[in-house]
Amino acid sequence: MDFLTIEGGAALRGTVRISGSKNAALPILIATLLTDDPCIVRNVPDLRDIETVIALLVFLGKKVDRQRDYVEVTAGTPLLAEAPYELVRKMRASVVVLGPLLARLHHVKVSLPGGCAIGGRPIDIHLDGFKAFGAEIQLDQGYVDVHARDHELHAATFRMPFASVGATENLMMAATLIPGKTMLLNAAMEPEITDLADMLNAMGARITGAGSATLTIEGVAKLHGVDHQVIADRIEAGTYMVAAAMTGGDLKIENCRPDHLGSLIDKMHQAGIPVDVSGQTIHVSAPQSISPVDAETAVYPGFPTDLQAQWMACMALSNGQATIKEQVFENRFMHVAELQRMGARIQTKGNAAMVEGIKGLSGADVMVSDLRAGAALVLAGLAARGTTTIHRVYHLDRGYETLEQKLSAVGAHIIRGQE
Ligand code: EPZ
Repeated sequence: MDFLTIEGGAALRGTVRISGSKNAALPILIATLLTDDPCIVRNVPDLRDIETVIALLVFLGKKVDRQRDYVEVTAGTPLLAEAPYELVRKMRASVVVLGPLLARLHHVKVSLPGGCAIGGRPIDIHLDGFKAFGAEIQLDQGYVDVHARDHELHAATFRMPFASVGATENLMMAATLIPGKTMLLNAAMEPEITDLADMLNAMGARITGAGSATLTIEGVAKLHGVDHQVIADRIEAGTYMVAAAMTGGDLKIENCRPDHLGSLIDKMHQAGIPVDVSGQTIHVSAPQSISPVDAETAVYPGFPTDLQAQWMACMALSNGQATIKEQVFENRFMHVAELQRMGARIQTKGNAAMVEGIKGLSGADVMVSDLRAGAALVLAGLAARGTTTIHRVYHLDRGYETLEQKLSAVGAHIIRGQE
């Protein structure tokens, strides 16, 4: 397994170019299941999760041509109605194949994704939505079987008990081919939902309200091919913004969408961190000292849960006390114990973490448990005195394209090794 070794203390200076959004590209690639026409998807990041979703599309019958700047998906063999455990377990986002395959085949069987380090990751909201569309659900030996054999799927108005990103994507995709007017209430408003809806509309779908809590989808008979460019990754951009602040650096983060990062920019301003926005570039220069700022994660446009660990690492170096509350996932403090090994003063109580800022962190051997916890440990290693060795970096490779190359290019002393 790979590990990263970081000699901390270098101020990051220069320009970082942001890649395409992992969390937009995954459902967008899966949406190509809704048509047999050729689809071109551009700005797809080179990540392990993308490789996994391409393998899944090929398994389901698609032909996929992965080029450097785009992915072309074309029809191959007739679509399979089953997604196997060995592929779904690698990446729970695979569960959004349910919607497209149900809409096209009226029957789909997908391995239940299972939990991961940050929580149980149930799909009850997804399944309740499919039931509202008239589908029948059977759970059997770790698989979920969704079918509408003896009656057609029908449009519905479905209120989500929680604004689940995956459930919104799954149900929105299914509804594009279900006759009638479907309304999804309390839908997720993340930019990745809007990007997916934009692509679906370009394919001939009739979706309105993307980016708001009420999505309306008029079903159509067929969707056609598309050429779509994926939005920039707001979480990757936010991670580098925090890196600049924590290392006493000065970074220009290019090719990003500042309008998707309002809550982080606000927090950084409150912490006394200068952030300037100009077009698709965010300029972050580190202040003399960082003021403590509380954060509570929430669905978009609230503070992103995917930036919670990174913000905690930043507050570990603030000049006071900050409280961070994780309101989206039930177990997303796996990075706390590792940050404590680096000297961070953090106490947790349920879903709240009280962070007492200190002058400096010290390098240590640490272990990555999940993607964004890993990002927090990289940031802490970059800011710490001495050497930090980060184990199990395969988690990081799921979501950060050419991480050590981008960091080395702005002055980080970081190398990858094999153990
Ligand atoms: C997406 O996961 C993202 N992944 C996550 O990013 C992100 O943290 C999350 O949205 C929240 O923003 C992708 O887009 C591939 P949810 P998803 O359904 O869709 C509960 C990363 O690091 N829930 O909005 O799985 C669930 O347990 C990853 O890039 C139910 O209870 O998130 C969780 O507590 C991590 N029942 C909360 O809702 C359901 O049916 C949020 O889940 C569905 C969800």
